[in-house]
Amino acid sequence: MLHRKSLLVLCILLISQFALAEDGYRLWLRYDKISNASLLGKYRQQLAVPVITGNSATITAAKDELKNGITGLLNINSGILNSYTSKATFIAGTLATISNQYKLPVEKNALLGLGDEGFTITTKDQKIFIIANTDIGVLYGIFHFLRLLQTQQDITALHISTSPKIKYRLLNHWDNLNRTVERGYAGASIWDWHKLPDYIDKRYIDYARANASVGINGTVLTNVNANATILTPQYLDKVAALANVFRPYGIKVFLTARFSAPIEIGGLKTADPLNDTVRQWWKDKVKEIYKLIPDFGGFLVKANSEGQPGPQDYHRTHADGANMFADALQPFKGIVMWRAFVYSQLSNDRFKQAYEEFKPLDGQFKSNVILQVKNGPIDFQPREPFSPLFGAMPHTPLAMEFQLTQEYLGQGTHLVYEAPMFKETLESDTYEKGKGSTVAKVIDGSINNFSLTAIAGVSNIGSDINWCSHPFAQANWYALGRLAWDHTLSSEQIAKEWLQQTFSNDPAFVNIAQKIMLQSHEAMVNYMTPVGLAHIMYNGHHYGPMPWGNTLPRPDWNPVYYHKADAAGIGFNRTATGTDALSEYKQDVSSLWSDSNTCADKYLLWFHHVSWNHTMHSGRSLWNELCYKYNAGVDTVKYMQQQWNGLQKYVDAERFTEVKQLLNIQVKEATWWRNACLLYFQTFSKLPIPANYEQPDKTLEYYQSLRFPYAPGN
Ligand code: GCU
Repeated sequence: MLHRKSLLVLCILLISQFALAEDGYRLWLRYDKISNASLLGKYRQQLAVPVITGNSATITAAKDELKNGITGLLNINSGILNSYTSKATFIAGTLATISNQYKLPVEKNALLGLGDEGFTITTKDQKIFIIANTDIGVLYGIFHFLRLLQTQQDITALHISTSPKIKYRLLNHWDNLNRTVERGYAGASIWDWHKLPDYIDKRYIDYARANASVGINGTVLTNVNANATILTPQYLDKVAALANVFRPYGIKVFLTARFSAPIEIGGLKTADPLNDTVRQWWKDKVKEIYKLIPDFGGFLVKANSEGQPGPQDYHRTHADGANMFADALQPFKGIVMWRAFVYSQLSNDRFKQAYEEFKPLDGQFKSNVILQVKNGPIDFQPREPFSPLFGAMPHTPLAMEFQLTQEYLGQGTHLVYEAPMFKETLESDTYEKGKGSTVAKVIDGSINNFSLTAIAGVSNIGSDINWCSHPFAQANWYALGRLAWDHTLSSEQIAKEWLQQTFSNDPAFVNIAQKIMLQSHEAMVNYMTPVGLAHIMYNGHHYGPMPWGNTLPRPDWNPVYYHKADAAGIGFNRTATGTDALSEYKQDVSSLWSDSNTCADKYLLWFHHVSWNHTMHSGRSLWNELCYKYNAGVDTVKYMQQQWNGLQKYVDAERFTEVKQLLNIQVKEATWWRNACLLYFQTFSKLPIPANYEQPDKTLEYYQSLRFPYAPGN
């Protein structure tokens, strides 16, 4: 008997443990009950009689979300009414449905100005109104409102009107059909192609909710290194099933198009973009897709890059290739996102190649083509100057491609909040149309008057229970959406609201955790690639340091190509006496960066080969600056670790421990980076690591002997 009793107690204990388990699955949409009693009272009063007018699938999603939100946050069970009553305390709907029932609380024209996705949240007669022109605008408004509750804002007199600054706000999944994810560190692909179209994983819905909550309105399901199989009827049915799940949440589906698909799955002999049969094949394929998915978004294409097929295989240009897809998609209002990530071994500087290839084509693309450019000229390095293409294509819409997945940024184990990095690029001045022509204004279309605008984040999502592997990696997904909606938001604000929703509203927690996040990008730059170093990661998988790497057949695949360390100094001379890559920027930019004395220290080695005793702005010699920065990077991570350890009482045990363990790894790996790089560069500088810094505890040979054949994400 006693035995049975203790078993029961054990079971109850286990169940309650389970109920408390914080696996991170709920992301920032947790809706845990608000503990502040006075706030709770006010919120309950304001949400006592909620109305959402309309009955589309999107409005149903909005109702479900609000219901979910207030049940959790306020612990009340208000039914959501479908039409206005004088008792209503909260009314949401489109302009059309609300104005039928109630005198509009705002100017109609102002509302119309908010476009297809914007919304207003307004208080009038002590009622809250969320009004939009479309159902999706209403859903976005509901998510915004729930964010206000989750971050415990005062909602007594709201006057918010907002609409997105960028039209296409996308995730790019680098997911393969066999469920591996290129550069993915969070488990297998979430797309379970095997079970689709009949089995709809609950995750797809939660994925759509999470995206809609931050305004992401499109997803490219497949890897840029594309597989033509996705375009076969069998797979298109699966894609259509996903599109059906995402549609109510305002999310369009896009696919990557393999350029040689007409040969591989169409049985043609060529994929020449000027060949009539090939063009017809794509037209038919696109028609077939739209029959299944009437709101299909279009194609993302990586062509003639890293071994992918493309128009140049037929001596055609990138414009010829892109325009072929554009013609096929145009009748259906689909778009082509043509990637500018190209580099051949023929150029003398990889930095220059996208510009060399695409600048001459400016103005030659059809109006439904947008050129998708990575933030920097090389490849998602910890820090890059902005890609010169952003200031150089007045006749071509440009999309921004950021990488959320941390390929070169600590992969699955480092806490790196990327918003400050995104902002650094977005706020860089291209001087395209004079001072103030920031990258943000180029991509939001305001500099060159484009309405086709886009921003993409290479996804960091996988099937790990918490979606992104590192609990803090979710913040990068969140930040991409928020910045795509409004690039003027600050990194601080985004970090704060993400923390409040994801962990706790307690200022004692938020202030410290926010500091951890805001320091993390600079820390990573310092312990990996300070002072403008780049691409000194291990070959292939890019995990860990390998500045000595020099074994691959192409020079631009080897780290030594990027740092050019020798007895005289270190860095890549991209001034007029070197490869002259700086001439790809507008004069105001290049003149600042082409003088090693005025060039910002953070970009110095991107543009200059300078001597080991070159004097930095800090007054230190370059060698001492490198030692200083590498050590500062490690010290900051140790500090982040200490700060996190002090937050234990504010965080659930599961996530506290996860982050703690990951920070331990990060300290180890930051130290590894510092030691390996300084020891290697020292073989050229022949200078000592100043005695006030921790000295490497292993030899360079030891670091060079390390191998990681099973590093993930390849
Ligand atoms: C990087 C990355 C590749 C990826 C490529 C791309 O080079 O390492 O895995 O395919 O970028 O953006 O196309």
